[in-house]
Amino acid sequence: MMDQRHVHEPFVFAALALALTAGFGYAAVIIAALAFKLPLGVWWLALVQAHGHAQLFGWAGLFVVGVGLFFLPRLRGTTLARSELAPWTLGCFVVGVTLRAFCQPVVAIVETQMPQASLYAALGRFGTLVSGVVEVIGVLLFVTMIVSSFRRARPLSAAAPIIPVQPYLATAFVSLVVAAALNAALSTSIALRGYLFPGTLDNALVHLMMYGFVIPIALALSVRNLPLFLRLTSPPKRVLLPIFILYVSGLVLRVAGELEQVFGSVGAVLQGVALLTFIWSLDVLLRRKAPWTASRTPPPAGYVETRKPTRRNYPDYGEFGRFELLVISAYAWLAFASALAVIGGAATLAGFPALFNPDIERHAIAVGFITLLIFGMAVRMLPGFSGKSRVASARLVLGTVWLGNLAALFRVAPLFAPDLPGANIALGASGALGWLAVACLAVNMWRTFRRNDKRANQIS
Ligand code: HEM
Repeated sequence: MMDQRHVHEPFVFAALALALTAGFGYAAVIIAALAFKLPLGVWWLALVQAHGHAQLFGWAGLFVVGVGLFFLPRLRGTTLARSELAPWTLGCFVVGVTLRAFCQPVVAIVETQMPQASLYAALGRFGTLVSGVVEVIGVLLFVTMIVSSFRRARPLSAAAPIIPVQPYLATAFVSLVVAAALNAALSTSIALRGYLFPGTLDNALVHLMMYGFVIPIALALSVRNLPLFLRLTSPPKRVLLPIFILYVSGLVLRVAGELEQVFGSVGAVLQGVALLTFIWSLDVLLRRKAPWTASRTPPPAGYVETRKPTRRNYPDYGEFGRFELLVISAYAWLAFASALAVIGGAATLAGFPALFNPDIERHAIAVGFITLLIFGMAVRMLPGFSGKSRVASARLVLGTVWLGNLAALFRVAPLFAPDLPGANIALGASGALGWLAVACLAVNMWRTFRRNDKRANQIS
């Protein structure tokens, strides 16, 4: 049975390993090929889909599942039930993502360029089929553990901390199950013929994973944790439900927009407005409101003087590095992507041709928001999950801030003006920068989890 206190660790390491290989590893290759105008054959298209899948199910997916197994039962006031299923869940995700990353490009290359090697094509097709099936099993095992944990918890009180974020969590779980089922159906279609998922269904799958699963969970974790970590006021409960309704309506319309463009444009506007309102209410970027600590009863006279002073505006002593820069920049990228969604969607509804390359919004969210938020949450939350009082290296945290933001900037900015001198070089370098940023986090997490706390108290 997996040790409950360390249940997240193998998931985090697996997420990092998949990110460094099929996720950001493939990304570095496909972006360099695109930027430096190498001939893009079917191998490139297959690698793009394998990369998107590895990033969403492997990098973001496994990280969220690992953190979720530790955090969600505690948020519900209980412990993880059926934890003996955790290694199976991990195994299913790792086998599924690895098989897909390897088999889809093999099928594409063998099918189009080496028709005589039909045995390899058959093996590749079989591998893709198995990948889709085991991922469904992995997702169902994850949902089983969370649902069993929630079931055995005591009834909720009106003030239970999970209540305001429950709809966000429910959306994430439903989207994950639907996405895994759709992914399995599309993998089965590759097992029968072809080597690519058809464009519209592939886009619908990406929307479900990105906007349906990862973002709602990220918003729920932010509502619960960021007021504490960054000394913010909690967003008022009364605004979370309207934002949620707007967001989910946008999500459904965006998925339907793959069939009829007007739905997609309305959906983009609704989702963008919902996310901008969320960011405004969370107050993470502008800090307009007094922190939640302002309303607490003041401590007895003389107490404050006996305490070591925390960092200005934050409740920690710097033991997690400048993690707040990661969180703040992640939300700045989300605000930017949401503004583009609103402007682009409104312009299309007004009859203008598409204003922006859709890849800009996609990667502003994928690299800018999702990846930087994972970096920030990892260094702020995971040491505590593993019983450590600090992260191993504050310098490596700063490394992820710079490299991660540069990767996002270089991935997105050149798409606005691809003909500007240097644009292709920046674009071509973005994958390698993203890879280096993940490598910094991997080294930092490895050292943090492995150190005993006596040594871990000395941060570099
Ligand atoms: C700096 C790092 C990254 C680079 C260089 C990169 C590069 C690329 C490229 C070149 C494409 C193809 C775009 C096109 O078709 O024109 C792509 C697609 C995609 N990427 Fe990334 N990417 C990066 C990070 C990420 C991350 C972190 C995620 C998710 C968390 C992600 C998710 C996707 C998805 C879902 C697709 C679409 C796949 C499909 O068409 O099925 N990418 N990426």
